Amino acid sequence: MSDNGIDHAQRVIAQRVPGRAPRIGIVLGSGWNGAADHVTDAIEIAYADLPGFPAVGVAGHGGTLRVGRLGGCEVALMIGREHVYEHGRTNAMAGAVRTLARCGVRTLVVTNAAGSLDTTMPPGALMLITDHLNMVQRSPLAGDALSQNSERFVDMRDAYAPDLRATAQGVARHIGLSLHEGVYAWMLGPQFETPAEIRMLRQLGAQAVGMSTVPEVILARHAGLAVLGLSMITNLAAGMDTLALSHAQTLAVAAHAAADATRLLEALMPELDAVQGGNP
Ligand code: HPA
Repeated sequence: MSDNGIDHAQRVIAQRVPGRAPRIGIVLGSGWNGAADHVTDAIEIAYADLPGFPAVGVAGHGGTLRVGRLGGCEVALMIGREHVYEHGRTNAMAGAVRTLARCGVRTLVVTNAAGSLDTTMPPGALMLITDHLNMVQRSPLAGDALSQNSERFVDMRDAYAPDLRATAQGVARHIGLSLHEGVYAWMLGPQFETPAEIRMLRQLGAQAVGMSTVPEVILARHAGLAVLGLSMITNLAAGMDTLALSHAQTLAVAAHAAADATRLLEALMPELDAVQGGNP
């Protein structure tokens, strides 16, 4: 994605939502879309009108940027993301993440549906991502035409900002929601894992597995954004349960946990905004 493309997308957003300055971006994954219905004063822009934004395809995902207020805060929600398994391009979200950063977004909240590797974290649970394993071993920054001021060797310590994680736990406690914590392993997909792969991931120290999010987090850290990551657990991972895995099952469990997910996101926004006040 060229700087020109980012400038163009930024101009489209500035024209369609004049005077609005979202400081929090949210990528809504499977199961998290309910939050979009709670956005007030919303203005929608189709990804198709935003150069560099993803072309989305999977059932259950949309394809619009919704700018508005959630929990009283100005936010930009990405409804629908592009997955690397759709075409093999790791930088599919580069234009979108960089455009949000250019528009003044300082924090990116990334959400997804994931399988659990921990029997004490059942389907329907929500998990705060503390760190990740990039099992795909590919990067959206590899081969990237970097602008002059940008760093190629991005520091991934504390990629999931400790202060935002503490804030999220505080908010969850306050609203009476139990928020698990763990390491998210990114597998390319689109096939689900084998039981042997799940045993491997458990040994490597992962608590959850999914097919998204990690490329966006790398892009966000590269763009200087603080990241908060949240997973909705939709199933026990392959071999840990007698149920067969399917996308339909993911969506069915997600429908049940959606109310908790929305409640958490809504309550989080003002608190994230307050932390950002101290992290200019
Ligand atoms: N594996 C990979 N991705 C997933 C899973 C899973 O078990 N559940 C939801 N997304």
